[in-house]
Amino acid sequence: MNKLSGKHVLLGVTGGIAAYKSAELVRQLRRQGAEVRVVMTAAATEFVTPLTFQALSGHPVHTQLLDTGAEAAMGHIELARWADVLLIAPATADFMARLVAGRANDLLTAVSLACDATLAIAPAMNRVMWDKQATRENMMALKQRGVQVLGPAEGLQACGDSGPGRMLEPVELLAALSALLDTGTLAGRRVLVTAGPTREAIDPVRYISNRSSGRMGYAVAAAAVEAGADVLLISGPVSLETPPRARRIDVESAAEMHAAVMSEIALTDIFISVAAVADYRPASVASQKLKKTAATLSLELKRNPDILAEVAALTDAPFTVGFAAETQAMESNARDKLRAKNIDMIAANVVGQQLGFDCEDNALRVIWGQGEQQLPLAGKGKLARQLVAIIAERFALTIRGETQNPQGKVFNIHAKDSA
Ligand code: C5P
Repeated sequence: MNKLSGKHVLLGVTGGIAAYKSAELVRQLRRQGAEVRVVMTAAATEFVTPLTFQALSGHPVHTQLLDTGAEAAMGHIELARWADVLLIAPATADFMARLVAGRANDLLTAVSLACDATLAIAPAMNRVMWDKQATRENMMALKQRGVQVLGPAEGLQACGDSGPGRMLEPVELLAALSALLDTGTLAGRRVLVTAGPTREAIDPVRYISNRSSGRMGYAVAAAAVEAGADVLLISGPVSLETPPRARRIDVESAAEMHAAVMSEIALTDIFISVAAVADYRPASVASQKLKKTAATLSLELKRNPDILAEVAALTDAPFTVGFAAETQAMESNARDKLRAKNIDMIAANVVGQQLGFDCEDNALRVIWGQGEQQLPLAGKGKLARQLVAIIAERFALTIRGETQNPQGKVFNIHAKDSA
């Protein structure tokens, strides 16, 4: 399948003469099956009209940061979240400088700052501007932050000069984007992710739950899709949009999550259990709303099934990854869980102090039988991509039979792989 097919490409157009080439780029992206949305700076609209990009992309073009109508339809945060990749083409010297400074004084800079997806820029400017130390330093700073700098090419420029500074041709940008989007580390693999909290009913209107927002699990599902996997997300109640191209099953209680996971696990290669499953549920659910009478009320609670441990114990178990949210002794508790649940990998984090549950950022210590890796504080999107990269690497070693888990069990994925 075409690597760009179904991908969400957010194209930022800044004010350079090469903007006319970006119109052709939109056409080519759509021909490859990509969905394209366009954000233009005010200067860009002096070179090409938004109508041109609207006609070619099939969607209204976004130009204003503070336009209540536009923000209500798809604001800068939604645009940033929608994107699988943000490509700025052409990127002027001024735009690069504003990107380096972390400005958010127009829609495109604000989207760039709010976006967790891969960011690529295709610089286009006069050769002297490109050669200036300020631009060089900006370019280096962006590269160091992980921005993909595509080009520029050398040749005759619109201003009559000849040298480096021409924007890459649409066909070259298309190839570069395909390469960027094709991480492919989990191509063809089936990944099942659980996310969010569970709700354990007390009576028809009350339940026991926890503070999970589901954001980490959804970010992991999105990162697995990005890595080429076929992703099923089994989700507790959250107010998040399903990541593009993931299949989602909604559940409420731990028992429902357990049933959904068990009925879908057979063809799963990798099980990533991010859900904050309630450990206990009320022993009985009152059929009518409980009335307040006595000064105290006791609830009898019963243990819920441990979904992750049960999956790991299956004869044909997938590669299993758990999460450990701890308020203390994170490392030792996580290692204990890795052993007790007999899973292949655990991602541990400290909760509380604005970390972990119900917030945007997180930090993880990823531990497996033979090693560990610390993923420092970052947005959940970035962390999820780093985690999925580690999972893909360990999984690949496993199916090549190069590793065993701490218990010495050779992962039974071999059988599945050769089937
Ligand atoms: O034992 P603890 O709840 O701390 O373990 C956390 C890990 O186990 C998470 O990956 C969570 O999704 C999973 N879990 C589960 N079923 C439960 C409880 C936890 O799958 N009943």
